[in-house]
Amino acid sequence: MNNTKTIRGASLPGAAFASPATSNRRPHPARSRWWGALALAGFCAWLANPAGAAEAAAKPKEKNDRPPIPKVRKNNLAPLPEGVKAAVSHAPFESGDCTLCHKNKDPQNPGPISSPVQEMCIGCHEEFQTVMARPFKHEAAKESCVNCHNPHNSKRPKLLVEETGALCLSCHTEIKALTIDAKVKHEALTKGDQCSNCHNPHGANVEHLLIKLAFDLCVNCHGKDGIKDEQGKTLTNFQKLLEENKEWHGPVSSKDCSACHNPHGGQNFRLLNEEYPAQFYSPYNPKLYALCFECHESTIVTDPETTTLTQFRNGKQNLHYVHVNKAERGRTCRACHEVHASVQKHQIRDSVPYGTRGWKLPINFTPTPTGGSCTKTCHETRSYTNTVAVAEPKPANGAPKK
Ligand code: HEC
Ligand code: HEC
Ligand code: HEC
Ligand code: HEC
Ligand code: HEC
Ligand code: HEC
Ligand code: HEC
Ligand code: HEC
Ligand code: HEC
Repeated sequence: MNNTKTIRGASLPGAAFASPATSNRRPHPARSRWWGALALAGFCAWLANPAGAAEAAAKPKEKNDRPPIPKVRKNNLAPLPEGVKAAVSHAPFESGDCTLCHKNKDPQNPGPISSPVQEMCIGCHEEFQTVMARPFKHEAAKESCVNCHNPHNSKRPKLLVEETGALCLSCHTEIKALTIDAKVKHEALTKGDQCSNCHNPHGANVEHLLIKLAFDLCVNCHGKDGIKDEQGKTLTNFQKLLEENKEWHGPVSSKDCSACHNPHGGQNFRLLNEEYPAQFYSPYNPKLYALCFECHESTIVTDPETTTLTQFRNGKQNLHYVHVNKAERGRTCRACHEVHASVQKHQIRDSVPYGTRGWKLPINFTPTPTGGSCTKTCHETRSYTNTVAVAEPKPANGAPKK
């Protein structure tokens, strides 16, 4: 094995990573990959061959629990009634020669079609032989092209029987709950080509019928300045972020944005798969950190003293506990960590926002071989050693300036 990267704490007793056995949460396609990867001693093998391990990871149970997705949609396939304006008319229908597809020449009585639908469509649309031979094929397109297209004419582009989003959701009711009914919606599904912004409705070279690797889809669209969320808040330019911050968080360096985000929508802040506090400060409640604790042990924040659970400790004193585990203004992980990428090691951020005008105060975290120190932002310069405790004066006021 030539990849010698190791997971911090993963092999230690009381590892910082949660195992699937300790989680009673609903399996998720993306996270089951991580459970497989993080829990098994074979993590190194995974680093060398993530795709192999992804296959090895248990298939999500939920897929078998929900009602099956129908393969067939009932459509009215007749030509539009006279007088209804068509946006598109299919070239062979427009020619007026019904026998290109039907048995009879008489438009009043064209009779049955002369060959099975798939054969007929692909007979003229030869490029679909290649499309439908791709490793991932859409069950609905394998079944019948007229699940989605009217063979004659349509009020919608591409001869679609319904608008793309509504068309897809009519069979994919499992996704509908995440979109139309979701508290947090994703504009990627409602603008442009809607579902086809990311999926190929016919066949694809990437799993889940994606038109590109998911990471590239996300980073391309989110690789611009000035994208705003529903509240008008400017979102991060990820192209720039990832270029300028070389310490990528584990799942980001595995190019797995869906490990934390549901691309379709959901009930949580920022399309997150699990809960995470939306504010800088939060009373401590393990439920609020379900996202992080999917992969990291919650004990890093719950045990006041430890010599193994975390390196962020002063001797035995657990400094994660000290900062985060407060009945009221506990600092959330974002007070110190950048969840996507950072310049500093351990995903430590360079600065924290201060006040309402968006001032950035530097944290000046300096790592040392046995710990680290932070200067003058939230408190006087403090350092910690995770071997022997450093004797330090108690801060006059433990709370950050505000
Ligand atoms: C590109 C191929 C094609 C051409 C050209 C074509 N049809 Fe069709 N037509 C179909 C297919 C496919 C069906 C669906 C049949 C099925 O699923 O059994 C269909 C079904 C129909 C139906 C029945 C719709 C229903 O409710 O089942 C009518 C009516 C019809 N065609 C009229 C015409 C007329 C009139 C013409 C010539 C002006 C014509 N078609 C030309 C492919 C074609
Ligand atoms: C699940 C719905 C669905 C099924 C089933 C389906 N298509 Fe499509 N098709 C679409 C959508 C949506 C578009 C437009 C967006 C796109 O090209 O991705 C489209 C576009 C097309 C186009 C136009 C491509 C272009 O670049 O302009 C052709 C041709 C086509 N489909 C043929 C077929 C054939 C042949 C089949 C059967 C093998 C089929 N479709 C089955 C949804 C479907
Ligand atoms: C006799 C040949 C022929 C058959 C059979 C045929 N097509 Fe087409 N189709 C064409 C031609 C020609 C065009 C227009 C070419 C172009 O614009 O690329 C076209 C265009 C299309 C488009 C794009 C319409 C648009 O908005 O630009 C779709 C979608 C499509 N066909 C679907 C189908 C489906 C589904 C079937 C089977 C029911 C089918 N075709 C059968 C010849 C055929
Ligand atoms: C006629 C019903 C039907 C329609 C309409 C339909 N689908 Fe599907 N789709 C299916 C079925 C059936 C499967 C296979 C489900 C399975 O394997 O559990 C599937 C599978 C998928 C998958 C792959 C799931 C995976 O895990 O690999 C994606 C992605 C998908 N559809 C997207 C779409 C999009 C986008 C549209 C609209 C353009 C659409 N579907 C329209 C029936 C449909
Ligand atoms: C922003 C990109 C994007 C858009 C837009 C999008 N999807 Fe997806 N979709 C994904 C990704 C990424 C995955 C794989 C998720 C994973 O790895 O867990 C996926 C997975 C799926 C799956 C299979 C897995 C599952 O959760 O069952 C289906 C079905 C699906 N999408 C349907 C749709 C439909 C229907 C639409 C439109 C309403 C849509 N998608 C729009 C990115 C997108
Ligand atoms: C087609 C372009 C497009 C693609 C592809 C895309 N996004 Fe987005 N995304 C947007 C836009 C536009 C917004 C801002 C509007 C909004 O909030 O919906 C957004 C918003 C978001 C938000 C903030 C949502 C909120 O309201 O808090 C997250 C998180 C996000 N995207 C993640 C992703 C991830 C992860 C992927 C890849 C699976 C992805 N996006 C792919 C266009 C895209
Ligand atoms: C380890 C979990 C995790 C992974 C992996 C992850 N994110 Fe996030 N993402 C978050 C969290 C948590 C937030 C909320 C951050 C905050 O408010 O402090 C967020 C916020 C966002 C936002 C909205 C805020 C902003 O500044 O734009 C976007 C867009 C986004 N992520 C896109 C992505 C993309 C693209 C990827 C893949 C390159 C990705 N995320 C991977 C956890 C993750
Ligand atoms: C999908 C799994 C996953 C999720 C969810 C996740 N992480 Fe991670 N995290 C990892 C992996 C994998 C590493 C990389 C460990 C390594 O390479 O040493 C990591 C590393 C880290 C590190 C740096 C460790 C070090 O010492 O370098 C921090 C800090 C961190 N995560 C914080 C968080 C926070 C905060 C959250 C919640 C917002 C979170 N993580 C959610 C998987 C995850
Ligand atoms: C007050 C700042 C601060 C806060 C708040 C904070 N961390 Fe940390 N964290 C650190 C520092 C500093 C390190 C690096 C310790 C070292 O290696 O010296 C660290 C390391 C880590 C690591 C690597 C393993 C370890 O514990 O040594 C993980 C995982 C982690 N943090 C997760 C989290 C999560 C999850 C949260 C929110 C629940 C959080 N952190 C909140 C400062 C903080």
